[in-house]
Order: sequence, then structure tokens, then C-alpha cells
Amino acid sequence: MKAVLCKSFGLPDSLVTEDVPALIPQADEVLINVYACGVNFPDLLIIQNKYQFKPALPFSPGGEVSGIIAAIGEKVKHLKADDRVVALSGWGGFAEQLVIKANRVFPLPRGMDFINGACTLYTYGTSYHALKDRAQIKAGETLLVLGAAGGVGLAAVELGHVMGATVIAAASTDEKLSICKEKGASHLINYSKEDLRTRIKEITNEKGVDVVYDAVGGKLAEQALRSMAWKGRYLVVGFTTGEIPQFPANLPLLKGCSIMGVFWGSFAEREPQQSLQNFSELQGLMKSGKIKQHIYKVYALEDGAQALSDLMNRKVIGKAVIKVGDWKEEPQVKNDPSTDQQIKSHTITKPLKIKLSELKKYNGQSLAVSDWLTVTQEMINEFAHATQDEQWIHVDVERAKTQMPGGKTIAHGYLTLSLAAKFLFELLQVEGATTSINYGLNKARFPVSVKSGSRIRMTGKIANVEEMNSGYKIFIECIMELEGEEKPAYVGEVITVVY
Ligand SMILES: NC(=O)c1ccc[n+]([C@@H]2O[C@H](COP(=O)([O-])OP(=O)(O)OC[C@H]3O[C@@H](n4cnc5c(N)ncnc54)[C@H](OP(=O)(O)O)[C@@H]3O)[C@@H](O)[C@H]2O)c1
Repeated sequence: MKAVLCKSFGLPDSLVTEDVPALIPQADEVLINVYACGVNFPDLLIIQNKYQFKPALPFSPGGEVSGIIAAIGEKVKHLKADDRVVALSGWGGFAEQLVIKANRVFPLPRGMDFINGACTLYTYGTSYHALKDRAQIKAGETLLVLGAAGGVGLAAVELGHVMGATVIAAASTDEKLSICKEKGASHLINYSKEDLRTRIKEITNEKGVDVVYDAVGGKLAEQALRSMAWKGRYLVVGFTTGEIPQFPANLPLLKGCSIMGVFWGSFAEREPQQSLQNFSELQGLMKSGKIKQHIYKVYALEDGAQALSDLMNRKVIGKAVIKVGDWKEEPQVKNDPSTDQQIKSHTITKPLKIKLSELKKYNGQSLAVSDWLTVTQEMINEFAHATQDEQWIHVDVERAKTQMPGGKTIAHGYLTLSLAAKFLFELLQVEGATTSINYGLNKARFPVSVKSGSRIRMTGKIANVEEMNSGYKIFIECIMELEGEEKPAYVGEVITVVY
């Protein structure tokens, strides 16, 4: 098979394209026929031995691929040959085939083509995590994006706009900025000819920006920090200039602002549920057409070095992608929903249908995210009546107006808890079960109270399946999200018995 190889560390022109021996997956790996590979800044660093991961020579760059599974190792249960997938490989993607640990492989979202599949997770995943989880950006705030026409930068422009922020895009050419405008930027700064601080003062009427998304570092970083509004958030994302900024500590003090690190890869590993939730929300935005990757150019595998050279020379706007092979259109593989649903890592189909006899295979399976449900005063009243717990904080709307924070009554914790069963019916169906009993709870916590009229929804995962004499006990970890709140309304385990 053919591969673009880094045989000695250096710039893109030191890469060579060669035939290499066929790859064989180990027990916990899969072999992917690569259809496309995204070109990302770390590919440039890794071939120069400047990245945090240092594969042994020779290796192929390319950390984000899409393709079709050709073979699986004997321990891999949740993927199979012919599955259309995306994978975060770190390196190895500039090649016709790639072997990779199965837990780094995810189903290609339905409706997404291979080119987009190879360049979406990394950019949108990073920028959504940065804006949503780290900066917690709010509608009406101002967002300055440095390096705004790069891969992660353009995703930040688009997402910032969709999230209701006023986006100021800053980049090095007018051509780049015109694409940023198409993606929703309200103000443009060409930092190769305009002074960043002066322009920010003009645009914000001296107030400064609420959030800075910095993917470039270097000299612009301190100027941006000096241009922040009170209680602003400065997101440290990357250093494409090659210069890690050293900030004077008096600046965050004077601005009352925060400097926040963003490390999407670590976030996805440490907080898989939140990452899953983010993917699900991003897929929703893609499906509705609110966000769409800007593809600068599709290169052939043999031109992999050229693609990296273009990235290095700041020519790329949005994403460069390597197309591997001469496939003309999307190969149609059979679409077997029951198989899709066995893919544990990032399944979002709703409801997940599991056969009773196959329940044990689904240990660790993530569930989709339910629809939103409004917790109304009527529901709270009925619950209070049924449980004879009619404390005024729940039912006295007039008194709550003056005495409760936010002027609203709050739902009983047990009411939100009991709604877990309703959400579970939406998210999980055990086919062939004649009886199911939601019979127990474990580790229940209520981090935030739910005010009447607010919306909740639930996601979760099958934490364990225990076989009983004539049925199964399923432990389902539940997270009930409260709209507009960082902390969930309920976290705990629901224990369901099915026969
Ligand atoms: N923290 C995380 O979790 C995370 C995740 C993904 C990526 N990153 C980092 O984010 C940065 C951007 O990644 P990317 O894939 O979006 O890169 P990219 O597509 O190459 O975009 C980077 C932008 O940086 C600007 N730039 C300024 N000086 C540059 C230079 N000397 N060489 C190249 N570009 C330069 C360019 O815009 P102008 O020409 O307009 O200045 C370019 O558009 C990288 O440092 C990457 O490692 C971090």
C-alpha cells in the first residue's frame, strides 16, 4: 500500500511517497481503508519532531481520517468490516490504510461524506469545547478570534455566531477575512495592516472584548489580552506563530479576567459524557445547516507534502483535505441500523433498541440525548398532591415571586428524579422483554434545583448489565441537564429489571 512517509524529521518537502508493507490489525485494533484525511497544524509539528507525541520513524502524518473498515482484531466487538467510520489516529492517516485502536474509531455520522468526515471532529470539537465549556460564552457577548480563517479559527467564528456572540474575526489577509464574514463575523481586522488594539477599541466603543479565542500566540496575544473587557475570558488554544506568549500577571488582575487553557483531546478522554453531548449538539447544528465546513482544497495522497506546505505558508482557508484513492462518489455500503447501534462509543440514535438476549453486549453503551421537557407548575402541583409534600417553595407561586431566588417555585427533587423513567422510555427499548420494572436508584445527587417552567433533558449510559435467574438487571447512569445551567439537575443510576 502507498503512504506518505516522514523518514527523517524536517519540513514538508522532506516527506516521500512510497509503497510500504500491508498492515495487520492487532487484537484490539481495526484496519481502515482510508478515504480521506484532514490536514491539521499538528501534522506540521509532528514531522518536525516538535509535537507532544513522537512516533518512531518512519511514520505517516495525518491524525484525522475517514474511511471504511477492512478488517478487525479478534477482541473488537463493536465494529465490523464495511463500517463507514472516522478516526482520530494522531498520525498514520496520509496512507491508503491505517491500523488504529478500536476505541479511537467512531461511526461516520449519517449524511456526512468522507471529505467532511475527515475534517470535522477536530476543528468543531475543539472550538465548541472552548466556547461552550471553557468560556461559557453568552449571546450578546463579543468574541475576538485570532487566526480566524484557520481550521479551528473558522469553526470558532461560525460557532460563536450561532451561539449569539458578536464575532470579530482577525486574520492576515482580506481574502481570508471575506470568508470569515460569510461565516458570520460582524467585524473584520486585518492584523497584517491594522493595529489590533486600536480596531478593537473602535469596534467595542472602548469596552473591550468578552472572549478571546487565540489559536496563534505570538505578539498578538498580549495585545488581545490588553483589549479585554472586565471579567473577560482569554482562551489559549494554539501557537501557530511558534511563539508561546508570556503574559504579565498584572493584566488579568487589572481586567478581572481569566486566562483559560483549552485541550480538547484531554477533555474528550477525561469527560467522555460531556464530549459525547457536544458531538450530539454539533451534529444537530450540521444537520440543520447552521454550520458547514469550509473546504479550501482537496489534495491527492501524492500531494500530501504540498498540502502541508500550503498550511505552513498560511495559504489554507478553513480545511485542506487529502483524498486517498480515486473514488468518484460515496461508496454505498449496506446500512444495518442494528449494527450501527452496537457501536458503543458515539451512538446517538434514539431510541436504542436492544434485544433482551443481547443485553450483556451493551455494557458501556452510551445513550442518545432525549428531547427537552418543560417542568410546569401543573406537574409540580400534581406531584406535591400525590406525595403530600405541599411545601410552599414548590406550590406557592405568589410567595415564590418575592421569596425565592429568580422568583419561581422549584420542582421537588424526587419529581425530576422520577422523570428519569420517562426519558429512559424515549432512549432505550429492550426488544422481547415482557416486563420491566424501574426498581432502584443508586448514587442519586441533585446538584441544581429546577425552577418551574424550565427545561430538562437526559442522557446517560448503560453502566452495567447483571444476569439474574430469569432476567437482567440494568444499571443506567443518568445525567439530567438543566437548560442554561452548567451543573446538571440530577446525576445518578437508575436500576431497571427486565424479563
Ligand atoms: N488546544 C487544543 O485542544 C487544540 C486543538 C486543535 C488545534 N489546536 C492548535 O490550534 C492551532 C491552529 O490549528 P489549525 O489546525 O486550525 O491550524 P491552521 O488551519 O493552520 O490555522 C492556523 C492559523 O494561524 C495563523 N498563523 C499565524 N502565524 C502562522 C504561522 N507562522 N504558520 C502558520 N499559520 C500561522 C494563520 O492565519 P493568518 O495567516 O490569518 O495569521 C492560520 O490560518 C494549532 O497551534 C493547533 O495545534 C489546539
